[in-house]
Amino acid sequence: MSFNEDSMSQHAINRLKAAQDEASIDAAKYWGRAAEAIDWFACADMPFDDFLGWFSDGQLNTCYNCLDRHVAAGRGDCTALIYDSPVTKTIARYSYSELLQQTGRVAAMLKSLGVGQGDRVVIYMPMVPETVFAMLACARLGAIHSVVFGGFAPPELSKRIDDAAPKLVLTASCGIEGGRTIAYKPLVDEALALSSHQVRHVVLLQREQVTAALRPPRDIDWMELHALTAGDEIPACVSVAATDPLYILYTSGTTGKPKGVVRENGGHAVALAWSMTNIYGIEAGDTFWAASDVGWVVGHSYIVYGPLLVGAATVLFEGKPVGTPDPGTFWRVIERHGVKSFFTAPTAIRAIRKEDPAGDLLRQLGIARCQAIFLAGERADPDTIDWLEQHSGLPVIDHWWQTELGWPAIATCIGLGDWRRKRGSAGLAVPGYDFAILDDRGQPVADGNSGNVVIRAPLAPGAFRTLWNNQAGYEKNFATYPGFYETGDTGHRDPDGFLHIMGRTDDIINVAGHRLSTGQMEQIVAKQEGVAECAVIGAKHPVKGMIPVAFVSPRAGHQADHTLTGRIVQAVRSELGAVAAMKKVHIVPQLPKTRSGKILRNLLREIVNHARYEIPATIEDSTVPATIAEIVEAESTT
Ligand code: COA
Ligand code: AMP
Repeated sequence: MSFNEDSMSQHAINRLKAAQDEASIDAAKYWGRAAEAIDWFACADMPFDDFLGWFSDGQLNTCYNCLDRHVAAGRGDCTALIYDSPVTKTIARYSYSELLQQTGRVAAMLKSLGVGQGDRVVIYMPMVPETVFAMLACARLGAIHSVVFGGFAPPELSKRIDDAAPKLVLTASCGIEGGRTIAYKPLVDEALALSSHQVRHVVLLQREQVTAALRPPRDIDWMELHALTAGDEIPACVSVAATDPLYILYTSGTTGKPKGVVRENGGHAVALAWSMTNIYGIEAGDTFWAASDVGWVVGHSYIVYGPLLVGAATVLFEGKPVGTPDPGTFWRVIERHGVKSFFTAPTAIRAIRKEDPAGDLLRQLGIARCQAIFLAGERADPDTIDWLEQHSGLPVIDHWWQTELGWPAIATCIGLGDWRRKRGSAGLAVPGYDFAILDDRGQPVADGNSGNVVIRAPLAPGAFRTLWNNQAGYEKNFATYPGFYETGDTGHRDPDGFLHIMGRTDDIINVAGHRLSTGQMEQIVAKQEGVAECAVIGAKHPVKGMIPVAFVSPRAGHQADHTLTGRIVQAVRSELGAVAAMKKVHIVPQLPKTRSGKILRNLLREIVNHARYEIPATIEDSTVPATIAEIVEAESTT
């Protein structure tokens, strides 16, 4: 389907074009103007410097921009945060004044424990308001938070603790996953036992579902500390350099070690404020909802910082798209709170569709006040978009970005009045991002041809400028195609300029919208007793988009080992986390390999996806694929 140009005024198309041109011809001027949406303690007179980055002479505080300035402007009574938790049957609203007060109290707690500018604080918490208070409190103090998603297992948490070397870990007694409670404290204890870095304190929020045992003096009860510091002054917002880190967010790289993406205060504030207005069409007083988790970049940018930077209300949803209590929960929340723009992952829509295929709940509940639904995190398949548009009657907008960038780089900028979109495409380049599609030798490919998706350096404000403790790792992203950032994605640009993202060039897969490395899973599988060789690949899944599947050839003597599969599944779960959702292991006599010994992962992918597979001429043993296909076939019917 092609875009509907008739319904678009030429004026809107021109506006996008003008913004793209301005941002590319004089980026410093363009973003310098966008920076006026932010309150600076010291003016950023130098919007861009090749070495120092964005707004390097500016001073600001992100918490001040999210909270204090709105209260000072007389908007203290406006809603800032809406906590909607079907799993605890709670709805709570915080005005800007209340959110400032709560954040200030947590800042006082952190300060009493010695947290100051530049200190790291790891936050391993569920989707509760205290998590938002804690992130903003760190920002207020100039401390650097690192939120770790609750679905990661202790060894992953431990890697992040060792890398970030935090003073504190903030946690809660439990998370609530659908109908189950997951005790967090044993996971934190295990992670700390594995870590070489030791934190001064663990501050724990007791929830009524689970009471965690505390080990003083290291462990401190959140509410006790809250009471103890209740008489302390709310700490003032610390003035930090625009280039000082606001947070570190670890994401999967191609090695077993997670990459600590560092987000700077200044560029982040400017870019997010710009995106709220120009991409999502959200202004002060509107309600925005990103149905993600604060453990992911979407949660950082669009549950916490983006909406608050522009004075909008944001929804913090503790639940799942289905089962909490039913597949109507998203529509109920949208309607209840008057959400104007909504953001989720395609996998969530597929999960809803599976349980409510005719969209009955959507029709009954209605979401008339919503202007658009945005999807990201994985490729949005046209069928899912069609279904959602048909049943919601709303424009459904696919858009693309990455943890490294922090905000969308390919989108439909509805705030600029441009509603053009095409099925199968994530949209047009967002002003500030200059894309190229290159072949493996670094030469541009013709429109319509597939290649490596790269972005011309320097990247827009808000995008990463280093990795924590790993500048060399950061530079690698610019090494393959000099002058360009390598996104790791493949795709093409069509003659209308629309960008189509088709897959990855590396071992990253997206499982239910979560970014994971199959290479990391292979490292875990390979270590298990009885495993001679293994490969983990992404198999298509009707709801999750992809799921990891392991192929294992056992060592001699382990061919009949009935514990092998269970041990492998359990190892990935306890070392990487439940979020990896690695539940399928095929035990095969041999893996398909080239004569030089390279495992033919593409061939395995084709077999597992029941695609027609071609046997490469370089294969060592041409009988192997048929044997594996038989095993996969037999096991998929059991
Ligand atoms: N804490 C602890 N465990 C968690 C967790 C958390 N925060 N999040 C997920 N898990 C666990 C789940 O309980 C599940 O465990 P199980 O194997 O014991 O059942 C496992 O990790 C996989 O979870 P998930 O991927 O969420 O699968 P699911 O079947 O429970 O739900 C979806 C599937 C599609 C409904 C869900 O993944 C979803 O809503 N995805 C949207 C993702 C998203 O918003 N991504 C952000 C990018 S926009
Ligand atoms: P993350 O860093 O977790 O946000 O994951 C980023 C990766 O998710 C991208 O590099 C893509 O591979 C994939 N991705 C995100 N959004 C989209 C989209 N709209 N279409 C296709 N892939 C996407």
